[in-house]
Amino acid sequence: MSAAKERPDPTPGEGAARAEAGFGIYVHWPFCRAKCPYCDFNSHVGDVVDHARWARALVAEIHRHADEIGPRTLRSIFFGGGTPSLMAPKTVAAVIERATRCFPPAPDLEITLEANPTSSEAERFRAFRTAGVNRVSLGVQALDDAALAFLGREHSAAEALAAVDLAARLFERFSFDLIYGRPGQTPAGWAAELGRALEHADGHLSAYQLTIEPGTRFELLQRTGALLMPADDLQADLYELTQERLAAAGLPAYEISNHARPGEACRHNLLYWRAGEWLGIGPGAHGRLDLGDKRVATEAWRLPKTWLERVERTGSGERTRVALSRQEQVEELLVMGLRLVEGVELARLEALAGCAVERCLDHGALDELIAAGLLRLDAGRLAATAAGRQRLNALLAAIVPDPAPRHAA
Ligand SMILES: C[S@@+](CC[C@H](N)C(=O)[O-])C[C@H]1O[C@@H](n2cnc3c(N)ncnc32)[C@H](O)[C@@H]1O
Ligand code: SF4
Repeated sequence: MSAAKERPDPTPGEGAARAEAGFGIYVHWPFCRAKCPYCDFNSHVGDVVDHARWARALVAEIHRHADEIGPRTLRSIFFGGGTPSLMAPKTVAAVIERATRCFPPAPDLEITLEANPTSSEAERFRAFRTAGVNRVSLGVQALDDAALAFLGREHSAAEALAAVDLAARLFERFSFDLIYGRPGQTPAGWAAELGRALEHADGHLSAYQLTIEPGTRFELLQRTGALLMPADDLQADLYELTQERLAAAGLPAYEISNHARPGEACRHNLLYWRAGEWLGIGPGAHGRLDLGDKRVATEAWRLPKTWLERVERTGSGERTRVALSRQEQVEELLVMGLRLVEGVELARLEALAGCAVERCLDHGALDELIAAGLLRLDAGRLAATAAGRQRLNALLAAIVPDPAPRHAA
């Protein structure tokens, strides 16, 4: 990867690819009713929330960025969390109103809100739709009540499906999340859950393999031997079953865990995976911006209280801002782009790296991974195969062996 450091400026080709990837806004709502034992997202329970203060701060952050970066066509807004369905609909409306006033919206602007499918939140769906949300993503997680209890969820499978059906009636587009690879799960049990899910799904479905994240309750249980994860070969079977079932139902994978009918992929998440530009608004949110000849990574203060006070006192919730070196940008393009079935455009990779792919990546490793059926290099793109996407971390470690250090902006 050392050759990636040689060229100082972005090329016009790379600029065009970025413009093509688009610009969006991520808004992080950091509060939840309860902490799920598998989750390491920046989510907090028990805080007293002054909704009017939060609305003012979120709107102020959008304004600050707009003043700095000037007009960009807005392709997507994504309210993530935490549990954004606990936001006051007035706050959601204020953010959308300010965002679309500051940035000219694309005609097909996608506005997604992540929601927990408890019935009390489902009642708020109408208000979110009125606020301008046109897509919801529901955390269904499982369609088996014992599994939902194990995952610490506060809803039943029937409640979750009722929320999905309501979302289908109210919003132009919707998706829901499932978690598989759970302790004790069998292929037959998972196939039955997927079958039931498909009766309610439409254009998009996310199926995540359960990951034991550091610092979570599940990690503690695993360390003490109280939680036994399925063996690797069973995990592989469950992954393959997921790919086959969903593809057969017209929802092929477009990313490791995301499946959609053609044209129904989440445009906002594509923006991350295609290395576009986005504002990160709210506690702990990350952003990527192209400013002049620099690509900068921003990160906001993580604790809700700190973030809110910073915005109010200093006019900015940003904790760090670093300029990404060319090598770091190449790495990000690969780390994010190889998650996608479409992979990474070689011309873009080479323009950014400043050298041919065989020179800027480990040539021997590339050949080996292609021969092993884990990578594909064809039609002008470098892509992981289905088997490669299943082992993406190992694959990336082989071709990006030496991650670059970060530089202050
Ligand atoms: C920000 S979270 C969820 C949004 C919402 N608060 C909810 O729980 O419904 C986004 C999704 O990530 C997935 N997820 C979170 N932690 C996970 C883990 N450790 N393993 C697998 N999937 C996970 C869940 O499917 C979840 O719906
Ligand atoms: S999975 Fe969702 S509801 Fe559960 S703690 Fe994480 S963000 Fe909150």
